[in-house]
Amino acid sequence: MDLPAVVINFKAYAQAMGARAVEIARAAEKVHEETGVSVIVAPNAADLVKVREAVDIPVFAQHVDAYQPGAHTGSVLLEMLAEWGIDGTIINHSERQVNFSWVEYTVHRARQLDLEVIACAADEMIARAVSDLQPNAVAVEPPELIGTDVSISKAKPEIIRKAVDLVRAPVLVGAGVKTTEDVKKAVELGAQGVLVASGVTKAKDPYKAILGLAEGIIQAMP
Ligand code: G3P
Repeated sequence: MDLPAVVINFKAYAQAMGARAVEIARAAEKVHEETGVSVIVAPNAADLVKVREAVDIPVFAQHVDAYQPGAHTGSVLLEMLAEWGIDGTIINHSERQVNFSWVEYTVHRARQLDLEVIACAADEMIARAVSDLQPNAVAVEPPELIGTDVSISKAKPEIIRKAVDLVRAPVLVGAGVKTTEDVKKAVELGAQGVLVASGVTKAKDPYKAILGLAEGIIQAMP
């Protein structure tokens, strides 16, 4: 994973599914081409293949199930991601929490399949614990700020500082991140990028929104 990065989680937003998922991914690719900033997109499982075919930037799943291939109706498996040419997965998002052994299986199996993992955590202590499993990055997101207009950078900068201190993996931060300033501050505090959703998926102009986030990374670079 090229860091620092802007990681965009499309969740299950109506504005980011089907043809709109492809449009947002193309906007993300354009921002990457124009700025050189690493941008990763995480569309919902049903749109992964379509988005993969449309863009050359990294494409991640939002979640995977910790099963080996077999009789697991409705599951999305790491083996499927590898087959589809997907680059990695998010795991343990606060809207899709799993237990520790699920994260452990995901990191272990992903490594075997050459896939990357962003493991989410609600605070710096959980972040430290999941970082011991050696995912490619840990994303710290205080759940109460997710989907709001109040960013972790503004409301809880101390969580970013503590996470950067404690975590033994690159730290991404998210929740309420929407502006250039939010990203700049997060990176200045030591984060290796941001995990965002509503600031892009609900924006009138997703390209402009992604560009604004990428500019935060550029402005924070020495
Ligand atoms: O996965 C990203 C996320 O939980 C943050 O959401 O809408 O606050 O950017 P949002």
